[in-house]
Amino acid sequence: YLNYCVPCTRKEIFETLVKGLQRLEYRGYDSAGIAVDGDKNTTTEDINNNKIVLIKKKGKVKALDEELYKIDCMDLEVELDTHFGMAHTRWATHGEPSALNSHPQRSDKNNEFVVIHNGIITNYKELKKYLNSKGYEFESETDTEVIPKLIKYVYDNREREDLSFSTLVERVIQQLVRSPLLIGVRSKYELSAEHIPIQYNTGEFFQREKGVQEKNSHNRPDISTAVNSTEDGKAVEYYFASDASAIIEHTNKVIYLEDDDIAAVVGGKLSLHRLNRLAGEDPVRAIQTLQMELQEIMKGNFEAFMQKEIFEQPESVFNTMRGRICFDTNKVILGGLKDHLKEIKRCRRLIMIGCGTSFHAAVATRQVLEELTELPVMVELASDFLDRNTPVFRDDVCFYISQSGETADTLMALRYCKDRGALTVGVTNTVGSSISRDTDCGVHINAGPEIGVASTKAYTSQFVALIMFGLIMSEDRISLQARRLEIINGLRILPELIKKVLTLDKNIKSIADELYEQRSLLVMGRGFNYATCLEGALKIKEIPYMHSEGILAGELKHGPLALIDKHMPVIMIIMRDACYTKCQNALQQVTARSGRPIILCCQDDPEVSKNAYKTIELPQTVDCLQGILSVIPLQLLSFHLAVLRGYDVDCPRNLAKSVTVE
Ligand code: F6R
Repeated sequence: YLNYCVPCTRKEIFETLVKGLQRLEYRGYDSAGIAVDGDKNTTTEDINNNKIVLIKKKGKVKALDEELYKIDCMDLEVELDTHFGMAHTRWATHGEPSALNSHPQRSDKNNEFVVIHNGIITNYKELKKYLNSKGYEFESETDTEVIPKLIKYVYDNREREDLSFSTLVERVIQQLVRSPLLIGVRSKYELSAEHIPIQYNTGEFFQREKGVQEKNSHNRPDISTAVNSTEDGKAVEYYFASDASAIIEHTNKVIYLEDDDIAAVVGGKLSLHRLNRLAGEDPVRAIQTLQMELQEIMKGNFEAFMQKEIFEQPESVFNTMRGRICFDTNKVILGGLKDHLKEIKRCRRLIMIGCGTSFHAAVATRQVLEELTELPVMVELASDFLDRNTPVFRDDVCFYISQSGETADTLMALRYCKDRGALTVGVTNTVGSSISRDTDCGVHINAGPEIGVASTKAYTSQFVALIMFGLIMSEDRISLQARRLEIINGLRILPELIKKVLTLDKNIKSIADELYEQRSLLVMGRGFNYATCLEGALKIKEIPYMHSEGILAGELKHGPLALIDKHMPVIMIIMRDACYTKCQNALQQVTARSGRPIILCCQDDPEVSKNAYKTIELPQTVDCLQGILSVIPLQLLSFHLAVLRGYDVDCPRNLAKSVTVE
């Protein structure tokens, strides 16, 4: 955040930075830190000498916030005319969570150069070794620390006195083998009088691989410069952020940076250029207006974002379909795919690629996609797909399913398939994300911002988006028209049915009351509801930290049955579909071993209920849509279990929302 010739108190600067961090906390919350300019009123010798002050703290942003006000040598009311502050919340990859390992990282004890960074520097060990040999001592275990140290090294060894800060930082970036999304650099020096007004201790801020936005402007994931202007159009404030939510209070217009773009604010002006200037002209990037509303990223009356997002599903699923399904004509249109439909229809097979919950959305829809497209459909975990060097051909169509659109494994799988000539299709929730930009075409799921680390509404919207794709693929098949109609009618009333499922919240809470002290919970089902088992088990692992396994009921007798006894909590999903009889067989096998299953079943099913320890009765819908309803009780269960076990629902330990590292 740079305020340029606009007086701001130190307190306001802290508040802007901390609020921004709090909005991004879902991305990582092991530790946090900020760097701010010192001023004539900062009294300790240390601060006076350094000019840049670093404050870092292990734990959540709240801990950092408290720490800021404990620093009595900083005058909170002092007004600063021009000021550059930066802040970072960390999800540890290299080095344990600690104040020392948190960002900003610095070049030396005088804080001459300080850096915040998202991503991984893959050649950091080599660089560290080199810098060590030159006498640079490292204080953290992070890969990031090589950046400020390298900047200092290049600066100390510059051939020309008038080296500009931009050139300096560019030289360093070129030495990094990286997957960085964004780098912020602040220098204590006025490196170039030509660029930086001497009277201000101005720094510059750089980001790669994503955007810039303007205040009264905003951003997208990993990137943005927001500029606030005075009436005569003079820029007075700039914001850079990894996500629009960090700055939404200040602006709604953003500039997204492309790969290899560099944005720098120098002398109060924003400039954009390519990392390697020889490679092309300075880019022209449009200022985009964000549609995001502040209330979308606020918790409202809910206890947690996860809970809010579970309850938003009637609307989010509706929004996924809005304007795309005409229920009068039964026509389905996905604008993002229409120019490529002919090619998709000619393909040899569909490959659905994702991680975690997004992968489960592929598993959930595979069967109906096979049915509606009459094509082989492979579902792939991105990491495994790459590990296997899976053969991919020019006549394959590869789907990348990702809420954030930034997941590193999925992105790498995308690049892998692109290199092999396949047509690539993105299914994301984030406009402007890397996956949505890098694919040939795609579907935006329109679920609205998902802040809770546990994915909930994105899953049901991905599910619906993939089904809509199947409906488009089958529109010319006479033999499939009755099935299409059945599914479209099911989709029409889906939001209403979701509302009914949500009224079960109290029952589910009472089940959670019984289960929350257990160590393990098995979730069993098959056919269209197998994905619900995987997804439910994932939710139960990641938020209440209970061991949980999603078990294909058909596999029960091949091993998992050994786990069943009267003590093992088991949830079984038994819906009235083609697998009903087979699921009842599994139920018999469980009850014969004294198992006491809690059964998710359709309303009014005495046959199943009589063998259940407890039932959760759901409205019945079309078989291939039932998984959208059956997952919701498990999302709610995960939420209640976590609350009862005393965990922070939105910030599960060790996890982050966007996994932008391999
Ligand atoms: C689970 C969860 C993760 C993500 C996975 C992929 O609740 O959120 O498993 O689904 O990290 O993330 P995206 O969908 O952003 O690619």
